[in-house]
Amino acid sequence: MTAHEDPLGWETSAAADAYRGRDMRLAEQLIFPAVLERLGGGSGPRRLALDVGCGTGAVAARLVGTGQWTVQALDPSADMLGIARADRPHPRIAYRQFDGRSLDWLADGSVDAAVCCLVYCTDPDDGRLAGLTAEIRRVLRPGAPYLLADLNPAATGVAFSTLRHGEPGVVYSDGDTVATMLRLRDGSMMAGATHYRSLDRYRSFLTDAGFPSPAVDLPTLPAEGPPGEAPAECRIAPYMVLTTHA
Ligand SMILES: C[S@@+](CC[C@H](N)C(=O)[O-])C[C@H]1O[C@@H](n2cnc3c(N)ncnc32)[C@H](O)[C@@H]1O
Repeated sequence: MTAHEDPLGWETSAAADAYRGRDMRLAEQLIFPAVLERLGGGSGPRRLALDVGCGTGAVAARLVGTGQWTVQALDPSADMLGIARADRPHPRIAYRQFDGRSLDWLADGSVDAAVCCLVYCTDPDDGRLAGLTAEIRRVLRPGAPYLLADLNPAATGVAFSTLRHGEPGVVYSDGDTVATMLRLRDGSMMAGATHYRSLDRYRSFLTDAGFPSPAVDLPTLPAEGPPGEAPAECRIAPYMVLTTHA
């Protein structure tokens, strides 16, 4: 069932290649609409948004697709950025490699919005994420939104139609590595690892960086068909979307 014998590290070119072929249906239905809705349009056209940890560029492409944002799309992985540039080029997306922590080319208060989807769960380094969160807070203009979407820590072990993060029945603690399976479009599975953090830990990343405590959305799909046959994502949210403002 697995496409790869060993879990893939996110920094590898094999992970980038596999991630390119992921089945994005749940993310498209549950994460992207919630992020765009929470982000709002802003008041002027083509304001600057950051897509932090852009991976293959799916979120950046949706942001520019609204016609309301110019995007700097940032990632530490040269392989992810190579795929993003090839698959989702756009005159209003600037892809840029960075160290996963510092935004030192951006002035204080110079950014109108920041989005970070499925990134914290892939980085084991709390110190780097704390530094990154403080940098996002620094570069956002006062009142600008920060949207942090990630795996729902309350959904470990649940078999969703396109992913499972964690083993059924296992209780995870902050810092634990979590075996994670992603379904690819060809029907095979990508075995990877993510890093468990509780919702309180996510709140601490934000409040320690000076953000207010976030609003928490846990989107699920509407149930269709006979009761009891609905997929897990109709009952339990695979992802959470945290919204706060600088
Ligand atoms: C699961 S992918 C998500 C990509 C994209 N945001 C999406 O939703 O499709 C995780 C990405 O986060 C990147 N990443 C890992 N640690 C990071 C950090 N500290 N800062 C920014 N990006 C990071 C990885 O290189 C990878 O491209």
